[in-house]
Amino acid sequence: MTTPTDAQRMEKIVSLCKRRGFIFQSSEIYGGLNGLWDYGPLGVELKRNLKNYWWRVMVHERDDVVGMDGSILMNRAVWKASGHEDTFSDPMVDCRVCKARLRADQMIEKKGVRQCPNCGSKDLTESRPFNLMFKTYVGATEDESSITYLRPETAQSIFVQFKNVLEVSRKKLPFGIAQIGKAFRNEINPRNFTFRSREFEQMELEYFCRAEEGMRLLEYWKEQRLKFYENIGIPRDTLHVKTVSDEERAFYSTGTYDIEYDFPFGRQELEGVAYRTDYDLSQHQKASGKSLEYFDEETKQRFIPHVVEPSAGVDRTVLALICEAYSEDEAPDEKGKMETRLVLRFHPRIAPIKCAVFPLLKNKEQLVAKAKEIIDLLRPHMNVFYDESGAIGRRYRRQDEIGTPFGATVDFETLGEKDASLRDTVTLRDRDSMKQERVAIQDLAAILRARIA
Ligand code: GAP
Repeated sequence: MTTPTDAQRMEKIVSLCKRRGFIFQSSEIYGGLNGLWDYGPLGVELKRNLKNYWWRVMVHERDDVVGMDGSILMNRAVWKASGHEDTFSDPMVDCRVCKARLRADQMIEKKGVRQCPNCGSKDLTESRPFNLMFKTYVGATEDESSITYLRPETAQSIFVQFKNVLEVSRKKLPFGIAQIGKAFRNEINPRNFTFRSREFEQMELEYFCRAEEGMRLLEYWKEQRLKFYENIGIPRDTLHVKTVSDEERAFYSTGTYDIEYDFPFGRQELEGVAYRTDYDLSQHQKASGKSLEYFDEETKQRFIPHVVEPSAGVDRTVLALICEAYSEDEAPDEKGKMETRLVLRFHPRIAPIKCAVFPLLKNKEQLVAKAKEIIDLLRPHMNVFYDESGAIGRRYRRQDEIGTPFGATVDFETLGEKDASLRDTVTLRDRDSMKQERVAIQDLAAILRARIA
């Protein structure tokens, strides 16, 4: 099924990302480099919040998962054994007229004849495999013996460290090893902003189990992962589970789901949940000659565990979070006239800034001092932002636009000038409802912590 696309909405999102410092083109001052992106001050906070929440849910809140952090470069033998060196490729076609190099599945077909989607030419090369791994050399000599690759997935370092992690963690099956880290793919056509990049981050769990548990755990992890997305503010009805067909699935997998999201440019994959059987550990055991077996103390059996892998993209999830959060509504301006308000409705848990603090007037020393006191009070607990410039309404709008869920304003009531019972209270404004409540400064950190947990 195809979903309607919304190019205009996507354009607005890309422009907001640059204007407010979420995402910039990499090497922009030199004309950029296709498929590579830098995260600015707000983007990096959003990304960190996402990764921290994933780590919390997948590692800290569970007894059966431990983490690791592997190197990006590994012995070339890893990529030979895993099959990446021979088969990690996309079929590619060159257009002899406009010189575009495109994925074979991007060709348009008219009356059974393939045409270049760029210039319409029919003068195309046969399709041939193009390996997606970035090749590099380790050490001073650049020859066959020093070749390796930037890792195209984080999973392989988990497989090759399986035995070490098993020994030190003393876990029993089923148990998992989690990792968040960079991966690199020389994508033929990077596109849709950060969606298909050449450098990106993955959040992967390899959950090892007995063969007979594989299919049940595939279902279990699919459900867990759907819940995760709901818990960061991506509603269930924008997510779709695609059962990957026998033809599309890796030959060693006996079941794979893609979790897809309705991006403005169409329904696309966010995460794959795959039952990879015992393929990877078996391959590495065979190629390295080292045992990667598990010994079951109760049954005295020795066997290679199977694995279920939920593999999510950090950058794709960040993009989905921004797309989902982006909204325009109406709000009154300083004079009460309705104007368009741009809001990023991030779940408070992942919002880059949790609370902005405003003194009502910047030229009133006591208001400024109190606001700065509040900033110091909140800073150890969350990322906060102090803003004293411009009318208060404009300050609210600036925070709405970057998704700050709460705003605390220090006014004359805070100083107890009109009503002593309101001394040391502030107004706390909610980004979405725009409603304000009066709260005591001493309760502020606890109130906010509960709402951003
Ligand atoms: N270890 C399994 C694996 O790597 P994958 O489906 O190729 O499986 C997993 O990748 C996830 O990594 C994808 O669902 C996606 O979120 C992310 N990903 C893959 N290629 C990407 C790219 N070029 N740009 C951004 N994210 C990508």
